Amino acid sequence: MFLPLLLAFSSNIGFALAAKNGSSTSYVSSLPLNAQGLFNESMAYLDHFYDSPYGYLYDENAAFALRHETRSSAWYSIGLLARNNGTDVAGAEKIITNIINAQFKDAKDQWYGDYQQEPEEPVVGSPYYAEKIYNSWDPNWRGFIGTAFIIGLEEFGHLLSPEVTNLLEESLYNATVGDSYRSIMRAFVAGWTGRRLNVTNMTASGELYASEIISLFDRANTLSEFNSGTYTGVSLFALTLWAKYLPNTSIMGQKAPSMIAYTWEAVSNLWHPEMKNVAGPWDRSYGFDMNKYLSLLALHLWNIIGKEKSSIIDRPAIMSHNADFAYGPLFAILAEFHSTLVPEDVVAALNDFKGEHTFTSSTFSPPFDLYPRNITAWLSTNISIGAETFNETVVGGPATNQDTFNPALIQWNTGNGIGWMTLYATEKHVIAEAAPGTLNLTYPDGNSASIFTLLLSPFAKKKTISSLADIRGLNLTVSGTVNETYSLAYAGGYGGVDSTINDFEFWNVTFSMPSNSTAVPHLLLEVDLW
Ligand SMILES: *[C@@H]1O[C@H](CO)[C@@H](O)[C@H](O)[C@H]1NC(C)=O
Ligand SMILES: *[C@@H]1O[C@H](CO)[C@@H](O)[C@H](O)[C@H]1NC(C)=O
Ligand SMILES: *[C@@H]1O[C@H](CO)[C@@H](O)[C@H](O)[C@H]1NC(C)=O
Ligand SMILES: *[C@@H]1O[C@H](CO)[C@@H](O)[C@H](O)[C@H]1NC(C)=O
Ligand SMILES: *[C@@H]1O[C@H](CO)[C@@H](O)[C@H](O)[C@H]1NC(C)=O
Ligand SMILES: *[C@@H]1O[C@H](CO)[C@@H](O)[C@H](O)[C@H]1NC(C)=O
Ligand SMILES: *[C@@H]1O[C@H](CO)[C@@H](O)[C@H](O)[C@H]1NC(C)=O
Ligand SMILES: *[C@@H]1O[C@H](CO)[C@@H](O)[C@H](O)[C@H]1NC(C)=O
Ligand SMILES: *[C@@H]1O[C@H](CO)[C@@H](O)[C@H](O)[C@H]1NC(C)=O
Ligand SMILES: *[C@@H]1O[C@H](CO)[C@@H](O)[C@H](O)[C@H]1NC(C)=O
Ligand SMILES: *[C@@H]1O[C@H](CO)[C@@H](O)[C@H](O)[C@H]1NC(C)=O
Ligand SMILES: *[C@@H]1O[C@H](CO)[C@@H](O)[C@H](O)[C@H]1NC(C)=O
Repeated sequence: MFLPLLLAFSSNIGFALAAKNGSSTSYVSSLPLNAQGLFNESMAYLDHFYDSPYGYLYDENAAFALRHETRSSAWYSIGLLARNNGTDVAGAEKIITNIINAQFKDAKDQWYGDYQQEPEEPVVGSPYYAEKIYNSWDPNWRGFIGTAFIIGLEEFGHLLSPEVTNLLEESLYNATVGDSYRSIMRAFVAGWTGRRLNVTNMTASGELYASEIISLFDRANTLSEFNSGTYTGVSLFALTLWAKYLPNTSIMGQKAPSMIAYTWEAVSNLWHPEMKNVAGPWDRSYGFDMNKYLSLLALHLWNIIGKEKSSIIDRPAIMSHNADFAYGPLFAILAEFHSTLVPEDVVAALNDFKGEHTFTSSTFSPPFDLYPRNITAWLSTNISIGAETFNETVVGGPATNQDTFNPALIQWNTGNGIGWMTLYATEKHVIAEAAPGTLNLTYPDGNSASIFTLLLSPFAKKKTISSLADIRGLNLTVSGTVNETYSLAYAGGYGGVDSTINDFEFWNVTFSMPSNSTAVPHLLLEVDLW
């Protein structure tokens, strides 16, 4: 048993080393095994949507009537360069050229240097297609596409013609000039492009944005968009670019490794390996159970602990939010380097549950937060509770989105999948604290009109519930200043009075205050697994 295994292992290594230089398939086979799996599966998924004669991907969302999509096309093009088999490189150059030809070119426009979202769209800002941020154009696409282009130039520049190389450089220059949205990606694109093209003031502006991001991070060693299945994945990706492609003379090159390590330390305390979910709170989440939607954090986990132990199921393409699988090739390309920045104790905690523990931290998103958000979480076998206290200028977290902001939630193993109960955002000011077996919610500025809406998972073994006593796997005791008679409603894909959120069906459990109550709204949830 032992010897053949050893031989198989060493011959793999030999193959990987030998392959690094030579043939067209060499690059992919030189990736770590988990990354190869992620790369090959995500590329096979994307191949399916490739419109090669047109030189774009079709939108991966079936609801798009065969329209094309720019961002995933850009990510795919870099995957094609990495694969470099047959016509892959020619296909990549064609996609890149198409995308850049359609990049917004008028420096007077606020969307200058950004990329159109679909080649089918009318001219942004024309009479019947008004400019509207996050609607007819999305400022973040400069960063999403620009970072992909930089990976292309850094890793596969030798495959690109001088014409396409120049086009990419010009594109990155315009994207940087047009971008005024401070983000980890923008700081990187400015810092990298400034250095590449020797534009000193662009390099300096990249360093300046980066220093603002870093000082916010340094306050408590946390990302200001904290712990979200999708966006922690994006932040770790962008910080990896800082670390890999910027020199030590850049504040980004200097700081990224420790920022990545701190971020993983937090994730490793919140990731529950038995339930394959990160405990709450989630600042911006596209689902309530990571086993059912494709999160970018889980693509990192695939690279680090393997697909089986991540929350990605055997067939990722059927998960909700699967369009993010288009990021797979880029995550795979960076995986080996990224792994060198993940501390060993983190890898151990990601692999195996370290046992009952609590976690506290804090984060801050000015100008939305009036004070830092304090985070508390408790994880035990088959259960987690996580929450954050905040006082903000908006409802729905800094992203101003009630559907993605999950400031307080409980997750548990029902015996038939993950159960969850999450506070739906209706208030600007909430004291929310997790402790062993309890979730404590108070609305200091609330009144008799305040409500506590809890979104509750459906249960495979109790499809029709009539009260909280029907919850599977968990015994819930409710107390507080609320009227204990709550309303119950269903949000179903086909029926029920409420609508699904992020593709998830749920029960809506809403507590109101007694009429004319003058008490501070307060709800205490005490739970026990059964
Ligand atoms: C790959 O190529 C480089 C430079 O051409 C050479 O130094 C190195 O030994 C080669 N590696 C392998 C594994 O063939
Ligand atoms: C390269 O592409 C050819 C044709 O599609 C395919 O048969 C072959 O398996 C590919 N090689 C690799 C290593 O993927
Ligand atoms: C960059 O912007 C300039 C105008 O400032 C424009 O003329 C040029 O075509 C743009 N380049 C690309 C690649 O979009
Ligand atoms: C970069 O710009 C600086 C200042 O403008 C100049 O001194 C230097 O020679 C330039 N370097 C290159 C490689 O063009
Ligand atoms: C950078 O310098 C160029 C000229 O060298 C100028 O056109 C541009 O406006 C400057 N950009 C910034 C952000 O200062
Ligand atoms: C957050 O936690 C810190 C440290 O424990 C504490 O000083 C601060 O008062 C807390 N903030 C709130 C709003 O509870
Ligand atoms: C919370 O914010 C409101 C303004 O939205 C303010 O009146 C109140 O004093 C703040 N409370 C605390 C404890 O910061
Ligand atoms: C719940 O939170 C409120 C407000 O912070 C606090 O007064 C109360 O003691 C807490 N209750 C428990 C059981 O932790
Ligand atoms: C649920 O909790 C209540 C109150 O603590 C207790 O009386 C009851 O026995 C518990 N039920 C189960 C199934 O644990
Ligand atoms: C939940 O139910 C309450 C009470 O009926 C309702 O006002 C609210 O809109 C519902 N919330 C969601 C997210 O469906
Ligand atoms: C509590 O809610 C129930 C159901 O809506 C209602 O009949 C009852 O009057 C409420 N009690 C108070 C004190 O508001
Ligand atoms: C609540 O107050 C209003 C007016 O202040 C009054 O008409 C009503 O009867 C009160 N309701 C209850 C349940 O006390």
